[in-house]
Amino acid sequence: MKIGNIKVEGLARLAPMAGISNAPFRTIAKECGSGLTTSEEIDANGLIKRTKKTLDDIAKYYPEERPIALQILGSDKENLVIGSKMLQDSGADIIDLNMGCPVPKITKTGRGSAMMKDLKNTSKILSAMRKVIKVPFTIKIRSGWDEKNLNAVEVAKIAEDIGIDAITVHPRTRAQRFTGKSNWDVISEVVSSVAVPVTGNGDVNSISEAVRMKEYTGCESVMIGRAAIGKPWIFDEKYENLSYQEKYEYKTKIINRHIELIKNHFSERIALLQMQRHLSWYAGGQDRVRSFRVSLFSTKTFDEAMNVFNDYWISLQNYKNLQKVV
Ligand SMILES: Cc1cc2nc3c(=O)[nH]c(=O)nc-3n(C[C@H](O)[C@H](O)[C@H](O)COP(=O)(O)O)c2cc1C
Repeated sequence: MKIGNIKVEGLARLAPMAGISNAPFRTIAKECGSGLTTSEEIDANGLIKRTKKTLDDIAKYYPEERPIALQILGSDKENLVIGSKMLQDSGADIIDLNMGCPVPKITKTGRGSAMMKDLKNTSKILSAMRKVIKVPFTIKIRSGWDEKNLNAVEVAKIAEDIGIDAITVHPRTRAQRFTGKSNWDVISEVVSSVAVPVTGNGDVNSISEAVRMKEYTGCESVMIGRAAIGKPWIFDEKYENLSYQEKYEYKTKIINRHIELIKNHFSERIALLQMQRHLSWYAGGQDRVRSFRVSLFSTKTFDEAMNVFNDYWISLQNYKNLQKVV
């Protein structure tokens, strides 16, 4: 797929996820095979106020990540224009506008999926942003506000007329948040209504499911969100064919690299939290994970957390070997 002049490699790519799709995790996903990655939502107000959290933890990316899409969140036209310019000046290859976040704290100030409600105002915002954004400009939408207001196609057409370069569709309503099943038919409808490339998203948990979504909807690219948490190797087409031992070694390498990136990226306090969360996710679905998680979240330092994780991780391998012997 091409978004403007930017080539997007491969079919599947990491979705933006607040608190998760930060520079370390995006780098890992990319190294595993994710195509273009998108940052988590970056609050326009945080950018303008230059808060440390926004600039250092959220908006920062590594040169190796490029091309990179940085996602902006906001509702005030001027702030979105200024914020977009700031992201552009920081080297963003693509600027994506979040029009899908369903969290009440966000929507009650007109941000995220609330932008799918007042289309007159949203058109003005998109036009103003389009004027200043010189790199490709994309939007990420839902199927609508609720069942009575399913307007993804209308929003996509308006955006295309304004000059938006690509659209991602997560076909749930704001009211559904993350419940129920995403309705891939909405992606098909958007694909057949606009000429710009469409990325499909929603409930994809493997590369073969991504292929199925592409075939079913005609979308050109697929975003994977929740299924990549604790499993960034989902983007590696070769992973499923590895033996148990090969998978274990591959995962160990990735986890160690991810932890190093986390340590370098964040302040000590945030790094420990990020480390604990990701290590806990990496252990997902494994034996005795509950007691491991209790011990992990009671640790107070990097070394303690890593010791708890390593003991557990090695025990998984031994457990498997024991099982084999018996
Ligand atoms: C914890 C979490 C945080 C999210 N944060 C964002 C975000 O910052 N920007 C955005 O556009 N979507 C965000 N999303 C939505 C995802 O990008 C994606 O649209 C959704 O999870 C559906 O895809 P999936 O079924 O592959 O998870 C978030 C989702 C989750 C679970």
